[in-house]
Amino acid sequence: MTNANIVMDEYAYPVIDPEAYAQWDGLLDIFEKLRHDMPVAWVENGDLHDPFWLVTRHEDVMRISKDNQTFLNNPRAIVFGLKAGDNLIREVTGGSPHLVNSLVSLDAPIHPKYRRLTQDWFMPKNLKQMEDEIAALAKVTVDRLINAAASNDGIADFVPLVSAPYPLHVVMQILGVPEEDEQRMLFLTQQMFGGQDEDLNKSGMANMTPEQITQLVIGAVAGFEAYFAQITADRRANPTADVASVIANAKVDGEYLSDRDMAGYYIILAAAGHDTTSASTAGAMLALARDPDQFARLKADRSLLPGIVEEAIRWTTPVQHFMRTAAEDTEIAGVKIQKGDWIMINYVSANHDERIFDNPRKFDASRSPNRHIAFGTGAHQCLGLHMARMEMKILFGELLDRIDRIELAGEAKRAKSSFVGGLKTLPLKIIGH
Ligand code: HEM
Repeated sequence: MTNANIVMDEYAYPVIDPEAYAQWDGLLDIFEKLRHDMPVAWVENGDLHDPFWLVTRHEDVMRISKDNQTFLNNPRAIVFGLKAGDNLIREVTGGSPHLVNSLVSLDAPIHPKYRRLTQDWFMPKNLKQMEDEIAALAKVTVDRLINAAASNDGIADFVPLVSAPYPLHVVMQILGVPEEDEQRMLFLTQQMFGGQDEDLNKSGMANMTPEQITQLVIGAVAGFEAYFAQITADRRANPTADVASVIANAKVDGEYLSDRDMAGYYIILAAAGHDTTSASTAGAMLALARDPDQFARLKADRSLLPGIVEEAIRWTTPVQHFMRTAAEDTEIAGVKIQKGDWIMINYVSANHDERIFDNPRKFDASRSPNRHIAFGTGAHQCLGLHMARMEMKILFGELLDRIDRIELAGEAKRAKSSFVGGLKTLPLKIIGH
């Protein structure tokens, strides 16, 4: 370890503090300084958490993500957490740092076997069959926004009306969850990912302790497991064409998946599949509400639709980090890393790296090339990336067709979360539909 890379006190806390993620610009300032001064920084906060290396440059995040032999997912937690919460998770799981056994917590040789089970399902060729259904849903969703605005002086909150329910509905359809159960799934997801934010975890408790947050997440996982146990039983008895049927009937090395493995699969799809897309969609609308000229340009030129989607995903970077563990002694950008060291690859910082992106804080749908790493890369690259792109493209097409202008009509608030984060409220004035 090089002493020059020991992180300075003033940054050590904010980079792990959920509150800091709700104050986006200040956080981006910190990452900018770190990329410049200490691109591989050792983060330590006494006994609060295990220390880790924070990697902030695009080039290094890319390299670590691609090298799945040197940088493993399974040995330690894949999402940053405080020690108190981690201890509780290990107690509940009997020693595993992973509350959920899912694709992201696995390494080769098991990981590719599990990933292969559903990989074809998420390819554009298969997703194409869903296009009409998703387009119909986008239309109904934008109707809802416009109607809500019409009855409230043109003002409506984009998050609960559009960006939260739309991707949730899509992912629930592919998992075969009936519409009447979607709210329950939304609630469980918010408990899992929004546990650090008092508005999202619905407990109404501000400043929860790490133990309380972890208890909330444990409860959410149990809720998911119980719910999907019924779906598994049903799909084994009556297989359909949905992903739930693929998972329920899949065999790895001749055996059905265990209940815990199946639950992990459902959970990652149900949870990772909608909060992320939701955050990108709302973030882009915020950027466009602040930039009416760009909104007008996009409305006039639909060839920029794919550009809106990619820039929405880069600019918001909803999955803010993942953790890796060094499988052996190695180095990153000249800094010595020891076997077993914990490493945070920070996608927010990588996607604002001025070495790769001109004027990184600007939302620019015509940015080209847009080499963002918001979906990760390497063996764990987002399985749902084609789906996320498709549903966002359809939705933005519909929004641009139906709305002439948007203005910010109040404060847009970000969730307090250091893992999956984005806007939790976005009041917009909807003009000229
Ligand atoms: C804007 C939307 C999304 C973003 C930004 C996003 C981001 C990510 C990231 C950063 C990873 C980890 C990549 C790595 O470690 O290299 C990931 C993995 C994953 N994502 Fe997404 N995701 C999005 C949407 C979706 C959707 C719609 C689904 C499915 C319905 C999905 C399912 C998954 C799964 C299953 C994995 C684990 C893959 C593996 O470990 O092999 N994601 N995603």
